Amino acid sequence: MLKQNLNLTVDKKLAKKAKYLVIADALRQAIKEGQVAPTEALPSARKLAQQLAVNRHTIMAALAELVAQGWVEAKERSGYRVVENLPIQTSLATKKVHQASKDFDWKFRLKQNLPVTPKIKASQYPYNFSGGQPDIRKFPFDEFKSHFAQTCQRPKIDNLSYGDSRGEAELINEISTYLRRVRSITDKELMICNGSQEALYMIAQLLLQPGDKVAVEQLGYPPAWAAFERTGAELTAIKQDERGIVPEHLAQVLAQGKVKLLYLTPLHQYPTTVSLDISRRMQIYQLAQQYGVAIVEDDYDHEFHYDSQPIAPMAADDPAGLVIYISTFSKLMFGGARIGYVVANNVLIEQIAAYKMLMNHKSNVLVQQTVAKWMQQGGFEGHLRRMTRLYQKRRDFMVLQLKSYQDKGLPIHFVVPAGGMAIWLDTGKSIVGLKEKLMAEQVYVQTELEFNRFKALPDKEYRFIRLGFAAMNEAEVEQGLSIVMEALYGKNLRVL
Ligand SMILES: Cc1ncc(COP(=O)(O)O)c(C=O)c1O
Repeated sequence: MLKQNLNLTVDKKLAKKAKYLVIADALRQAIKEGQVAPTEALPSARKLAQQLAVNRHTIMAALAELVAQGWVEAKERSGYRVVENLPIQTSLATKKVHQASKDFDWKFRLKQNLPVTPKIKASQYPYNFSGGQPDIRKFPFDEFKSHFAQTCQRPKIDNLSYGDSRGEAELINEISTYLRRVRSITDKELMICNGSQEALYMIAQLLLQPGDKVAVEQLGYPPAWAAFERTGAELTAIKQDERGIVPEHLAQVLAQGKVKLLYLTPLHQYPTTVSLDISRRMQIYQLAQQYGVAIVEDDYDHEFHYDSQPIAPMAADDPAGLVIYISTFSKLMFGGARIGYVVANNVLIEQIAAYKMLMNHKSNVLVQQTVAKWMQQGGFEGHLRRMTRLYQKRRDFMVLQLKSYQDKGLPIHFVVPAGGMAIWLDTGKSIVGLKEKLMAEQVYVQTELEFNRFKALPDKEYRFIRLGFAAMNEAEVEQGLSIVMEALYGKNLRVL
């Protein structure tokens, strides 16, 4: 029987799509809805053309499209019919097969079972005190866009293909010159990575194996620890105080053997912000040399130092060549830029480059070339100057705010950090449960619990939080802090 009428919905929003395809969509939808059943004939092309006020050729093209997709078939002299087995049924059948494969035991097949935790997005919180977060709203996107346009107008065709995994020569050159000037690092090779996390991962894979130990600061950066542990190596915590890690404790740990790597954040210790004392640096370096231990120096936010020149990194005075220096553009730009770098001796850089080739060939060339232009033409320096001034003001503002709470009698304590993007605050109270409580109030903070995996501190009370001051303006900091203080001390402290 020939179907006389179909209720067809032609989507007018699809103006850019060819008319016959829009009509094919509408017919397919009518079939899916069961307006016309399998094996039943469709209205004639003439009728459809009349109904939709289009040319008959357009209808014929739509029907041909549906034939090609397997929804209808042409029957000689009797027009078009819906096929007996709709493609939708075939796809349901395939789905069933897929469902059956759900029983496949991937857990059993996996060599390693990585912890899968729901990722909390700190940036979604209106009051985001996340420690190393820059104010991305202040990034000069227009300026960057013009460099990006230049990169695309005169593409370097050769570089856009596969090739050297160390990164774009222009960018390597710019960053090396910059590091020579601001961090006194010379006589080492530099390569670009997909953020410093990739560098940490590759270093771990190349240097560590099960049974090895990695000495780390007792409070530290969990993503680095995770990369080290993934190799089967074990972490050993080194005690730290207000001058950084304690060399005497490091000496004891190294004397027990098996330590292959020492991971440090000497300039602004993560998370406490303490700068590692110069005399301790020398002791630590000598110990590392004595026991043949490589040092990974993570100089993640050296750009932001306010009251004086930052102390030169350990990599600047490395006669034995045992320091592997890493840093990032995640604070200067934003984490999603995924530009980091590793600086080390040539033998190691060659190996890291070979490892990167295995993983992902090279980092994004267009972004590297754009950043290189941004640096060559002075935009980078200007942005850095502006952000340093701004973050210094924001640090000072947060310090004033915290002092005002001290004046109100709250037993909070902190040392004003000479640089970085966060304050390490002793709240004077246990912070267990504080993070969750604040999240319910739209405030994101990181607490000491997140930075301390070494719970071998029996009667220790966790009291510290890390308060990032760079990402928010003064009003946001004032309001956010008042929520934090009220959550800790009640007393109606909120200013909103
Ligand atoms: C201690 C430390 N190292 C490294 C990084 C940067 O990592 P990436 O370059 O992978 O973004 C951060 C950023 O939060 C950090 O805090």
